[in-house]
Amino acid sequence: MRKKIALIGGGQIGQNLAMLASQKELGDIVILDVPGYENICKGKALDLMEMAPHGNYDANITASSNYKDIEGADLVIVTAGKPREAGMTREDLLSVNLKIISDVAAGVKQYAPKAFCIIVTNPLDAMVYAFYKLTGFPKRQVIGMAGTLDTARWRAFIGMELNVSVADVAGTVLGGHGPDMVPLPRLTTVGGVPLNEIATKEQIDKLVIRTREAGTEIVKLFGKGSAFFSPAWSAIVIAESYLKDKRRILACAALCEGEYGIKGLFLGVPCMISGKGLEKILEIKLTDEEKAMLQKTVGVVTKTVEETKL
Ligand code: NAI
Ligand code: 2OP
Repeated sequence: MRKKIALIGGGQIGQNLAMLASQKELGDIVILDVPGYENICKGKALDLMEMAPHGNYDANITASSNYKDIEGADLVIVTAGKPREAGMTREDLLSVNLKIISDVAAGVKQYAPKAFCIIVTNPLDAMVYAFYKLTGFPKRQVIGMAGTLDTARWRAFIGMELNVSVADVAGTVLGGHGPDMVPLPRLTTVGGVPLNEIATKEQIDKLVIRTREAGTEIVKLFGKGSAFFSPAWSAIVIAESYLKDKRRILACAALCEGEYGIKGLFLGVPCMISGKGLEKILEIKLTDEEKAMLQKTVGVVTKTVEETKL
């Protein structure tokens, strides 16, 4: 029997999630959105069904505004919520998206209580915390997608700067999903060669800044709305690792309970994602400078989480 995937939110990221999940034959898909957007999502679902003969995939893709239709889902990916507009920070979305996440948490808790849940809605680190608190799900079942995207951007920019294949760039980005995130040049390699041996300090500093500002760079270009192709693929990488028990090590926002000296906060850390969901958090020995940068993002995320009053 195919897995059941519920996509809560059928907007820009949601529709790309549906396309990728169907092309990869990850399971049958239900797109859930608000009643006013239900028909548009039904149209998107039908369009994807009609693409299947060329895409050569089998998946049943439907859309609904009724949570009953996500009943028994194995995987839930939440993109429901407002995206940023030019001049807005992710934190500016807190109050409007907290209300939406509260509705989503209630629906998922009732109809898909066993699902592995990937939260994408911004401000990410606070929304995944809110979803975890509101559902009461175990921590292995709830993860936030941001570090996977931030790491993809870090790798992409290095590939572009050094004119090498991104396939050979390995590295990670820790911390909150904001301008204080922590790319780790010291632990980044290009075809096995340490980044700091192949790039100058000036180049590395520029790459760190561009990665931290990558989301904003796209928001400025769009004027309205934010990135959607790369966020969708980043969430699918986590989903696939869970559905296929791939045990990939991916930077995700996970509940830290002492790891990295952080307690009770969701923050971007290297996570093993297996068929159980969050299997474990991996701890990297950080330098004092890296620890200080991580601590700075902890402060920012703590402040946003406090505003949820949960
Ligand atoms: P979008 O506006 O295109 O889609 C959002 C969808 O959510 C809309 O279709 C809307 O009708 C739906 N929605 C609103 N309230 C809902 C509810 N109560 N129940 C179900 N659906 C509801 O936005 P987009 O571009 O897909 O972005 C979605 C979210 O992801 C935003 O909050 C954005 O900031 C965030 N994001 C997060 C990233 C990350 O790395 N974590 C990266 C990029 C965006
Ligand atoms: C991004 O990083 C805005 O969080 C969104 O693209």
